[in-house]
Parts: sequence; structure tokens; C-alpha cells
Amino acid sequence: MDAFLIQGGQRLSGSIAVSGAKNSALPILAVSLMTDSACRFGNIPVLRDIQTQVKILNTLGVESHWTGHEITTKVKDSYNSTAPYELVKQMRAGVCVLGPLLAKRGEAIVSLPGGCVIGERPIDLHLRGLEALGAQITLDQGYISAKAPKGGLKGAEIYLGGKFGSSVLATDNVMCAAVLAKGTTIIECAACEPEVVDLARCLNSMGAKIEGAGSPRIVIHGVKRLRGCDYDVIPDRIEAATFLIAGAITRSPITVTGCKPDHLMAVLDVLRQMGIRVERKPTSLKIIPADTWKCADVVTLPHPSFPTDCQAQIMALMSIAQGTSTITERIYPERFMAAAELKRMGAKISVANGNAVIQGVDKIGGAEVMASDLRASAALVIAGLAANGETKITRVYHIDRGYERIEERLRKIGARIQRVADSDLPAPQAQAVST
Ligand code: EPU
Repeated sequence: MDAFLIQGGQRLSGSIAVSGAKNSALPILAVSLMTDSACRFGNIPVLRDIQTQVKILNTLGVESHWTGHEITTKVKDSYNSTAPYELVKQMRAGVCVLGPLLAKRGEAIVSLPGGCVIGERPIDLHLRGLEALGAQITLDQGYISAKAPKGGLKGAEIYLGGKFGSSVLATDNVMCAAVLAKGTTIIECAACEPEVVDLARCLNSMGAKIEGAGSPRIVIHGVKRLRGCDYDVIPDRIEAATFLIAGAITRSPITVTGCKPDHLMAVLDVLRQMGIRVERKPTSLKIIPADTWKCADVVTLPHPSFPTDCQAQIMALMSIAQGTSTITERIYPERFMAAAELKRMGAKISVANGNAVIQGVDKIGGAEVMASDLRASAALVIAGLAANGETKITRVYHIDRGYERIEERLRKIGARIQRVADSDLPAPQAQAVST
């Protein structure tokens, strides 16, 4: 297993380009199941999660070819509609083949994703939405088995809100299933995340009739079939935010290029409240460094509010802010794995009942810390860049799931970070399941 060694305290400079959005690419790749024609997907980040998704699609009869940031696909056969546990346990987002399979083949057997380090993450909303379209769902031996009725799925009015609000992947699954259903479907309390809009745009480019994606009410007029596509996914807003926070914490005037500032309004607003200015251009954002920054109060909520996927990173920045910050985590109340590791670096954080209180300190110091999920790992990298001395982050396979060659890209803007093989550590108990 690899580890990162970071010599903290370096100023960064220059530009860093954002990759394609992992959380767009995963469900978008699954639409290749919905057409008999070839598809080309561009701006795909080279990540382990994408590799897992491609493996799942291959199991389901999709032939694929991956070069650089481009993947082409074509369904070769439709015999197998089972997404196996061995793959879905590696990545929860594998569940997003459920809607596409059911829509096109009338049947889907998908492993239940199981537990997750960041929280319980049920899938009741996915199932409720598909049942409303007429699917018969049974859970058997750890698998979801979904079958369309004889006449096919039928459009319906579906309320898709849960106790934590909307769900991105539940919206994706139900939207995909409704695209090939008969009649009109209305999804109320749909997730509004830019990744849902991206999926809808991709489907519309294939002949789907989806209106309202990006708002809580999505209307889908069913169509008989979809053609292939040639589609580039949006830039990764979470990666962009991670780099901005890395610039802020190292007091460095870095420019994050190839991003969509509109997708980052809540993060930019928190940075502004903390006293960190960001110069905004149509496709780039530049940090205007501040020597010190203020505390802030952040509540994570579905888009367009502050994203849970940036919560750990902002916690790292709050650790050396002036004053006491708070974070209320409303999506995954237990998602505070970064806190214990940041404390090992000298941060003062207390966590209880979905809330974190972060008492800013002047400095944090390097330490050996352990990555425990994707975004917590990103927070540790950010903290390591700012810490005095050396930080060693073990189990960085977590970060490789969501950030393409992060150490090489950070090195190019001046960070002293290197990847080392760490063979002394035991094998991971479970490959993280957090996307
Ligand atoms: N929820 C339910 N019932 C459901 C589904 C979700 O109650 O059937 C609740 C969950 O408990 C949670 C909230 O709804 O409180 C959203 O969770 P969910 O597990 O549905 O999120 P997701 O759609 O599976 C996506 C991202 C996550 C991101 C969340 C929230 C992908 C592939 N994953 O997951 O990304 O945290 O939305 O924005 O799009 C990451 O990239 O690090 C990551 C975890």
C-alpha cells in the first residue's frame, strides 16, 4: 500500500487544472446500457472508481475501450443482468446500473451496496422510485432483484425525498428508468446537484426527453429507444474546491483552471466569510492569499448548499482559522473521520451528534496519519501542506479513488509531496465504499 510524504509549509504557485467529475462520470457511463449503439464519453478522470465501474459494465455485456480520458462503449450481449457483490462492494456507486438495466432489459439484479464508512446510506429511495414506475422488487441473499411488469415500466408521480433530503444516485436511477418508461414521470424532491444535470444532458443528447434537471422537480417524457452519444462530462467541483482550499491554507495565489465557478457558490461564500478572496473568471478561480483567516459556521446540505464532500477539507482550513468554527453535517452525521487525524496534527476539534466544533490554533504540525475515506484523505493532504514538518499519510488508496494523480499535480505547483510504497502496513480490511 502506498503512503504520501508531505513536507509542509511550502508556498504553492501557478495553475492546476481540474479533472472530469467522478460523480458525473460514474452514472453517465452506466447509460451505455440503455442503447444498442456505440457511445463515446470524454473528460473521464482516470481513477480506480471509474475502473470498477467499467468492470461492472463489462460484466453486464458492455464492450469498452479506454484511452486517456476517453471511454467508448457498445453493448455486445445482454445475457447477464447481474452486477456482482465483488464489484459493488468496492464502490457503492455501482448501484447506479440498477435504473439503466431495468429500463432497457426489463430486469436488473444488483448487489446491495452494504455499509459504508461515512454512514448508513440506505437505498430505500431508489427502490421506492422504481416501484412507483411499476417495478417488482425483491431483496434476496444480498441482491436487489428488480423486474419490469409485462407491459413495461409506466410513468408516475414520485416523491423522492428522504429524512436527509434528496439523493443524487436515487434521482439518477429513477430518472434513467423513467426515460424508457411509457408516459410521463414527475420526480418531486429530486436532487439538484450539477451531476444530475450532467446525466440528464447526456440522456437528452441520446434522444431522452427530460425537463427541469437541476431543480427539485424533474419531468421525464418516456421515449421508446435511445441512440448512442458523444458526451464530455463536467469538471469536478469537489476537486476544484479541494485545490482552492489547498491554496488558501498554504497562503498561495494558485489558479484552479477548467472549472465551473457556478457549481461552487456555497464553497466560495464560505471562503469569503473566512476572509479569503477568490478572483473569479468564467472557467477559472484564483486564490488571493490571506495571512490569517476567520472562523465560520458551515452546515452541509444538498446542492446548492455547502456540499458534504467538501466538509472535511474546510475543516482542515478551520483548524488554523482565528476563532472557533462549527460544522453541522446534515447529510452524513457520522462523516467526521478527518477530525481524529487532524487532532493528531495538533488541531482542536470536538465532535458530537453530527456537529464539530473547531477551535482554531496558530499552527499544526506534521504527524503520521491514516486516510479513512476519500474526502477525509483530501483533508489530510491539505493539512499536511500547511503543517510544520513532515506528514505521512497512509492508506492513500482512498484518495486514488477520487483524485487523479493528485501528488504529481500538486508537485507541479510547488508542493513537496511524494508517494512511497508502504509495505509494512496490513492489508485494508475493506476497500472503502464511499461514493
Ligand atoms: N438516503 C436515504 N435513502 C436512500 C438514499 C439516500 O435516506 O435511498 C440519504 C442518505 O442516508 C444520505 C443522503 O440521502 O443522508 C444522500 O446519500 P446517498 O447515499 O444517496 O448519496 P449518493 O447519491 O449515493 C452522492 C455522491 C456522494 C455524495 C452524496 C451527497 C456519487 C457517486 N456519490 O452519493 O459522493 O457524498 O451524493 O452529495 O455521486 C464522494 O464523492 O466522496 C461521495 C461520497
